[in-house]
Amino acid sequence: MGILNEAFLNLRTIKLRRFLGSLFYPLQRDWLERQLRKSQTLEAVEETGEIQRAEATKRGGQFHFKHIELEIYFLSADLVRIEWKPGIYPISYGISRKDWPQIETTFQEMEECWTISSPQLKVIVGVDGSLKFQNLSGQTLREELPPQRPTKLSRQTQDETWLHQAKLRPQEHIYGLGERAAPLNLRTSGDKNKARTYRMWNYDAGGIYGPGTDPLYLCIPLYLGLHEEGSYLIFYENSFPASFSFQELATAEFEGGALRYYFTAGTLPQLLERYTELTGRPPLPPRWAFGYHQSRWGYDKESALREAVKGFETHDIPVSAMHLDIDVLDNFRAFTIDPDRFPHISELAEELVTKGIRLITIINPGVRASRKNRLFEEGRAQDVFCKLPNGKPAIAPVWAGLCAFPDFTNPQARHWWSRQYEYLLDLGITGFWHDMNEPGVFVLWGDPSLPPHSTWHSLEGRGGDHREAHNFYGLLQAEAGYEALSEYQPERRPFIVSRSGWAGLQRYAWTWTGDIETSWEGLRQTIPTVLNLGLSGIPYSGSDIGGFKGNPSAELYLRWFQISCFMAFCRTHSANNTKLRTPWSFGEPTLSIVRQFLQLRYRLMPYFYTLAWEASQTGHPLVRPLFWADTDNPQLWSIDDAFLLGDALLVAAIAQEGATSRAIALPKGHWYNFWNDALLEGGKQVNLKAPLEQIPLLVKAGSILPMEEDNQLILHIYPSAFLTSEGQVYSDAGDGYGKSRLDSFYLTQNQDCLELTWKQQGDYAFPYAGIKLHLHGFEPQQVWVDSNEVVNQGQCLSVEQFEQVRWQGVFTNYEHRS
Ligand code: GLC
Repeated sequence: MGILNEAFLNLRTIKLRRFLGSLFYPLQRDWLERQLRKSQTLEAVEETGEIQRAEATKRGGQFHFKHIELEIYFLSADLVRIEWKPGIYPISYGISRKDWPQIETTFQEMEECWTISSPQLKVIVGVDGSLKFQNLSGQTLREELPPQRPTKLSRQTQDETWLHQAKLRPQEHIYGLGERAAPLNLRTSGDKNKARTYRMWNYDAGGIYGPGTDPLYLCIPLYLGLHEEGSYLIFYENSFPASFSFQELATAEFEGGALRYYFTAGTLPQLLERYTELTGRPPLPPRWAFGYHQSRWGYDKESALREAVKGFETHDIPVSAMHLDIDVLDNFRAFTIDPDRFPHISELAEELVTKGIRLITIINPGVRASRKNRLFEEGRAQDVFCKLPNGKPAIAPVWAGLCAFPDFTNPQARHWWSRQYEYLLDLGITGFWHDMNEPGVFVLWGDPSLPPHSTWHSLEGRGGDHREAHNFYGLLQAEAGYEALSEYQPERRPFIVSRSGWAGLQRYAWTWTGDIETSWEGLRQTIPTVLNLGLSGIPYSGSDIGGFKGNPSAELYLRWFQISCFMAFCRTHSANNTKLRTPWSFGEPTLSIVRQFLQLRYRLMPYFYTLAWEASQTGHPLVRPLFWADTDNPQLWSIDDAFLLGDALLVAAIAQEGATSRAIALPKGHWYNFWNDALLEGGKQVNLKAPLEQIPLLVKAGSILPMEEDNQLILHIYPSAFLTSEGQVYSDAGDGYGKSRLDSFYLTQNQDCLELTWKQQGDYAFPYAGIKLHLHGFEPQQVWVDSNEVVNQGQCLSVEQFEQVRWQGVFTNYEHRS
């Protein structure tokens, strides 16, 4: 794209008052960068060179090649760290677990190679520096070529780059890389059959993006290689800009830093468990966060917000959070509330809480660089801003005008920033929406962020430039925010939603898919984007319902809403120049259908919350690809328009205008149609109806699906012929860190009997007034509760506490096989 064209496109989103800044800033940025990079030439491509010596170490081995050193270090039997040096060591912002229990490894010298083995994995190091990773049965999961180090020399800086390649197995599928506007399987080729290139550089898509845009706001250098013979996960602990592509070879090219990465092998759930053990598990969010969130750029005064809230009451639509965009800020400045337009925000917040609605406000990291701005003056006095080579704060235009940017890689800056939330918390704001934190700035052309070579960061006192710090920016801002909220309100669980981040963001924040375009393609794109985020360790995400920019038709809005009701983060949001977008703005039948779907989501709350608890224990995403339930079926490996919510639900999107049915390949097992209890056989393609008031929704046979209604826990029991199964319900106060309980239900089936046993754990009192057991696909004739026969109430039995319930009757869906 020509510079003029680019400038014209960018101009659309940049208002005139920021025009001059976005014109002069890129000139200054390019000039600064030229100073540092004037005489860049490609000097040499260095290879590993010959091996000089190799020695065993406590958890692995050390290899000295002529030019490069290699360290292999097992953290656990199925997780190994590989480190090629030299290069700048990463600061371990992404890593959560640093101590790993002792582990025995075996080091063996062979004729042309060395092997280092743990009880589960073997790494074979070739004399040329190639590596092979094998599982216990001797299958090679990954074969890496010796890394190369093309070295670029410039006048003041030396860029040490790494080229790292591995052979991909035929049929190997690739997932992960954080947030991508790409197909689910990242190995799918792009236009003209060329491999797609995925860049690692958190990037503000500038108000709109569609399928194929790369990069986006939240890049994570992690991918999973899925294959029938064994799957693995690779996480590069390197925050420098990089490019990845996947054809016959998986190629990763980093522009700096040491080449440090982690390899783990196992089943899909195990890969996520290990990765999130390393980079941190997502803490349990407050329960209200699984309700519906309404947002809009354009609630520009209290009355606009009140009116929206009133609409929810009038139309009997549940809502749990209202989000305030930059309209709430005083001249767009961080940590302010406009006193004229929001004069009674504290009363408003209080009033909303009584209605069960939380207020969330936006926070942008840019601090207006003006002597009149207290925050800027304070930050300057404390020396906490990102700097230029002359020691002055790096200044760039964003919403508040010319801004300085806190250097979150400086612990003092994080601490200083974390102190600012207090003001808003005291006003009754419950949660925070971190935006523009790539950090994004306004430019008419070129990269919309800080100058990469000439912005200087503390990096915990060790120092480094923006190339290294950029991708950490949103993660570290989230860390500061999380700490602020935990410290000032220790009795509450923090709620932060962050646009940008890196590996480990799940420890602090949720995310959303940013400024996706309003179109059917946009809707379709959000599904693989959310799925790949989940496979990258970020379990809480969703998209702007209806798309950010544009006005969806009632049908597009409704189809988007329906699918979003089954995502972890369910929020409508839109740009300021769009029409009002609330469930009632589209009239009937949209309004009634949205109401039904939201009511269903709220009824599913025990299920969402139990999945969230599971995520906090295992790192498993709530929203999972279909192959999670059946990894052996390659037909499922590229399905991007359907997903699983936990193990029990399969949700298929209707993402085509006018469609009222669709085909879908099912994972193995049996599946009940949620809407009519019809039983479908898995492992096949089926055609499902989807009139406007439905989307295909299936329940896995064997599930015990917990729902709630009128303070009753309703267990929907979906038997599967002669299989035993288990379901859990996690409960606690919904916020804070008090008591909890886990109710486990075990289902056994045989001949003409169903038996449900209840085991209770934990000291939180059972929070429901009663339980209803709702049977699907089974007609009871006789019922016993704790061995006493009770009146047969049909398919829905109301009970109080019990140890065991037994039904005798007829399976209406399965033929009896004795
Ligand atoms: C960015 C955000 C969007 C927000 C807008 C104004 O484009 O991605 O969600 O509404 O800025 O703050």
